[in-house]
Amino acid sequence: MTARIIMKLLVESVRATTPEVAHISLVHPLRPQLPEWTPGAHVDLRLPDGKIRQYSLCGDPTDRMRYEIAVKREDDGRGGSSWIHRQVREGSTVHVSAPRNNFPLVQHARRHVFVAGGIGVTPFVAMTRALASEGQDFDLHLCARSAADAPLLDRLREQCGERLHCWFSSEARRFDTAALGAPAEGTHVYACGPERLVSSLTTALAETGWPSEQIHIERFAATLDENFKPEPFEARIASTGQMLHVPADRSLLDVLRENGFSMPSSCEMGVCGSCECGYSDGVVLHRDASLPLSKRQDRMMPCVSRARVSLTLAL
Ligand code: FES
Repeated sequence: MTARIIMKLLVESVRATTPEVAHISLVHPLRPQLPEWTPGAHVDLRLPDGKIRQYSLCGDPTDRMRYEIAVKREDDGRGGSSWIHRQVREGSTVHVSAPRNNFPLVQHARRHVFVAGGIGVTPFVAMTRALASEGQDFDLHLCARSAADAPLLDRLREQCGERLHCWFSSEARRFDTAALGAPAEGTHVYACGPERLVSSLTTALAETGWPSEQIHIERFAATLDENFKPEPFEARIASTGQMLHVPADRSLLDVLRENGFSMPSSCEMGVCGSCECGYSDGVVLHRDASLPLSKRQDRMMPCVSRARVSLTLAL
């Protein structure tokens, strides 16, 4: 996996889409076109203090001139969104990576059903735009406190029409998974939002018999088990035979870097997918929220995932 291009982009506009969410449009100061992307992709924003934050692109993928993101101010978060809300203004510049898509639409699906909690709707803005323009079958369930708290609601109403189903707690309408109906071949469910919503949805879908291959989740943070006790392990480099010791208090990613491997990374929390690498001959303890189940047999995220005793890395 190669490192991603970092661009210095100009803030074209900043608008409040809700009292807590800023809708930001970014353009290149010189080039007429930005790198292409597909619905579900995100970019990394690199903040001046070195922090990196991921934001889904919520604009139009056919508009190569600009990227649009929506940023919710999290006053008790890790500080990135507060900085963006305080400092980013029209005319500012920000460092932005080329887009990466860890949450793509399933190309062969006959129907797509989206469930979003609040700011989790951002990847679905681009997805529903694309599906609506192609005349494909979809429904979007949007959960929020109220219409005033639902990001990009006007745009969603315009592009989704009757396919948008709003669940506003201020109107005593709480999302009910029964609204998704029974499992159906060719129907894929996508969810993005707070952990409580996403985990109750995945539990309910599993209980009603939805196959895991038809469920696609994007999380805001990895669900790390607080009782997990890291153990040391050995990592063998397949191309050279070199053995690396990974102590209990270090990540595999850190140890690889210390030993001269130039590994890309971004979130270092197991959510962005930047550090993905291949492995064989080992039992990996996957602790990320990014890799789909289908890839876990031979791919891993070394920023958070570890191995039982030893493994061989495809490096
Ligand atoms: S750096 Fe983001 S998943 Fe590893």
